[in-house]
Amino acid sequence: MLLPGRERCARLAAALYLDCFFFLPPGRCELSALLRFPRCLVHRLDIIKYRNPSSFPPGPWPLPFLGNVFTEIDFRNVNKLAEVYGAIFSLRVGSEKIIIVSGYKMVKEALITQIDSFVDRPNVPLFHKVFKGIGTILSNGYLWRMHRKFAVSHLRTFGDGKKSLELRIQQECVHLCNAFRAEKGPFNPMVTLNSAVSNIISCLIFGQRFDYHDEYYQQILRLDTECIQLIGSPRAQLYNVCPWLLEYLPGPHQTIFSNYKQITDFLRGEIIKHREDWDPSNPRDLIDNYLTEMEKKKSDPEAGFNIEGLVVTCLDLIEAGTETATTTLRWGLLFMMKFPEIQEKVQAEIDRVIGQSRQPCLADRVDMPYTEAVIHEMQRFGDVVPLGFPKKAVKDTKLGDYFIPKGTSITVNLSSVLHDPNEWETPDTFNPGHFLNENGQFRKRDAFLPFSAGKRACLGEQLARQELFLYFTSLLQQFTISKCPGEEPSLEGEIWFTYAPAPYQKE
Ligand code: HEM
Repeated sequence: MLLPGRERCARLAAALYLDCFFFLPPGRCELSALLRFPRCLVHRLDIIKYRNPSSFPPGPWPLPFLGNVFTEIDFRNVNKLAEVYGAIFSLRVGSEKIIIVSGYKMVKEALITQIDSFVDRPNVPLFHKVFKGIGTILSNGYLWRMHRKFAVSHLRTFGDGKKSLELRIQQECVHLCNAFRAEKGPFNPMVTLNSAVSNIISCLIFGQRFDYHDEYYQQILRLDTECIQLIGSPRAQLYNVCPWLLEYLPGPHQTIFSNYKQITDFLRGEIIKHREDWDPSNPRDLIDNYLTEMEKKKSDPEAGFNIEGLVVTCLDLIEAGTETATTTLRWGLLFMMKFPEIQEKVQAEIDRVIGQSRQPCLADRVDMPYTEAVIHEMQRFGDVVPLGFPKKAVKDTKLGDYFIPKGTSITVNLSSVLHDPNEWETPDTFNPGHFLNENGQFRKRDAFLPFSAGKRACLGEQLARQELFLYFTSLLQQFTISKCPGEEPSLEGEIWFTYAPAPYQKE
């Protein structure tokens, strides 16, 4: 059996690990026989402690007690392991067993056919320290249902409803285009795009946008981006294996915790300001609505509507709604640089449907199938959240031919769905044709799951789609995106918590 390179390294590390602990001096046969005993004992104890039930998914060989800590759980490595072990395989990180599900067929079965089986989030120490299992993204049960319902309802009724949100994004498009225009030469658009996208979330949460030159707010965005970068690093994930030890040691996890502390301090400050002039009969934003909900749910503490819940709810939406959409737009601009003929076709459609005398609006979408196809392909090929967010089995479940016991963590490999060769004609090529029928009309695809699916699917999908369309068309209406002279940006991204393009311009 041919194992991926990292897997071979993991086995080598396992052998070294055992030999270091139970070093056998050469030529001392009686002693070596004696020392072999504890080595076997460790094996035995590990097997007994972590024995898998029958029909448990296969996986790479785990080290005694440490499990597969040397196997990096990023989507590239996970894809290689799926080639060896199949669409459903298992890993063990410390004591935590994780099932990885790949390919449209099995992911659909896990998230849609068995819609009630994997709705909970596991306790991931790196996240739990910050999100505490409250709010929306990482909570469970009744508290999660109440918070998800609250967030969905706020998104739906924000301001005067959909029209008001569209207007906010259009206003932000003007600021974004002005900021692009103010640049004198080649520039890296990451910070400007991030500011524009996060301003929509700011309007939802704080009822206001921030100037792109507001130093304090920019600092918050920088801290946040750094967290998303670091969370994807194998060194930070080591915290999940032995939090009790790493808690007291330096490392990227300490930077993550310190950054989140500063971000939550900022959120607390905003909440305090809101409470000072809060008028329940005239809610301005999510914070005001949440304060009202706190009053209503006073007699229902299980619902978790309190100040800590509010801080984490705001953090959830900043986290989930900013980095994802910014990264998708960054991929989009990169694809336009790399494929100028596609950019020209989008601009031709913009000229035909919108022209230059007015701003793009959401109603244009139905008349712009090519642009819609390009935006969908940006999301498919960009693969921004390749492994989704972790989940766990809420009951004993059969998935495919395998048995998954209640409480086991599940990672759904969305990347493998967006590149599934059984679903996409040219999975590894940027091809807007995936979303067009033979008449050039837009066509939906079942395996298009960048927002995941099922009960835990992204609740900001509609907002994200609106932002992607309005920002992307506004930029291409006014600018042509091209490479820096003498540079050839790569389509290989960087693995953060999201999968992000490398900077287009060398810093
Ligand atoms: C292009 C942009 C976006 C992408 C690709 C994206 C993708 C995702 C994915 C893959 C999940 C995990 C679903 C699962 O566990 O199965 C998720 C969850 C979530 N997203 Fe998004 N998202 C985007 C934008 C947004 C925006 C704009 C918001 C906020 C307004 C948002 C709020 C959330 C929340 C709150 C969750 C957690 C839902 C829950 O646990 O019940 N997302 N998103």
